[in-house]
Amino acid sequence: MAEEIIRNTASGEVTMRLWRGDADGGEFAEYVMPAQEGEVVLDVIHRVQATQAPDLACRWNCKAGKCGSCSAEINGRPALMCMTRMDALPPGESVTVAPMRTFPILRDLVTDVSYNYEVAKRIPPFEPRPKMADEVLAGGYRMQQIDVERSQEFRKCIECYLCQDVCHVIRDHEENKTAFAGPRFFARSAELEMHPLDVNDRRELLQKEQGLGKCNITKCCTEVCPEHIKITDNAIIPLKERVVDASYDPVAWLGRKILKRRKRTPVEATADAPATGPAAVQPELEVHGIPAPELGIAAMVGAPSGDVASASATGADEAPPE
Ligand code: SF4
Ligand code: SF4
Ligand code: FES
Repeated sequence: MAEEIIRNTASGEVTMRLWRGDADGGEFAEYVMPAQEGEVVLDVIHRVQATQAPDLACRWNCKAGKCGSCSAEINGRPALMCMTRMDALPPGESVTVAPMRTFPILRDLVTDVSYNYEVAKRIPPFEPRPKMADEVLAGGYRMQQIDVERSQEFRKCIECYLCQDVCHVIRDHEENKTAFAGPRFFARSAELEMHPLDVNDRRELLQKEQGLGKCNITKCCTEVCPEHIKITDNAIIPLKERVVDASYDPVAWLGRKILKRRKRTPVEATADAPATGPAAVQPELEVHGIPAPELGIAAMVGAPSGDVASASATGADEAPPE
């Protein structure tokens, strides 16, 4: 592999263009490194830190594609630095690594992803229905394998937030962050909504406060997901269908009335939620100090979602995130 790189660079070297700076600005700096066999982008960045730039900031933990820490934009495409092989990049060209553009820069390649944690707090947690008499006798709930697998796909998420980074609804529209949960959290809501035992109802929250209607199913999130979760097809589109059923389908409405089957609304879930701890539901959303506005249905369904063309990641020579 190194021979391939060496042959194509003529000099046996690779040029790394790494973003250096902070919230006040910065620029790309070039580091020329010897090419080595079998490396991923994170390996080369570690060698840059060890030999040329000990103050270069980058976040990583597992180096195995499982912790979701090393997200960045490599040659303009959101990707994990530890899972991007150097020999998979165009030979003979410099490799540009920039921080994720959607989130505020802390330093160099490290961004502040706390927006995602604030959104996560707003999603009512899993709440199982009470056990039925035969389930008590049998010692617990029983689930069909198909129901297990449906939720299991979303549980593969490593919270790298690459899907959040690429989504044009917030990538180019900071103002949307107060009213848009983003693909990672649509997948989380789908995981919970599709669980056959769960009694919480997140559809109104998704429609009125989390901007499900702003998603125009461009599938950019699905394309960058390192866990190959079909976010758009298996989470977002089924959620949109459920929201439409809940709000506009008279047959579904009649069925719920007759069968008296109803899940709990977010308000009911909030009332029952513990005041603190991981299962707590936070009624007030604040993103970067901005309180979430009260939004009506009209503001969500069919609302313009920004420039679709801007869904592509930054070009390698574009200015990095601001
Ligand atoms: S499909 Fe497109 S618009 Fe919808 S959440 Fe994914 S990236 Fe965003
Ligand atoms: S859904 Fe995929 S891209 Fe999005 S945070 Fe999870 S693993 Fe990352
Ligand atoms: S270092 Fe853990 S996913 Fe890359």
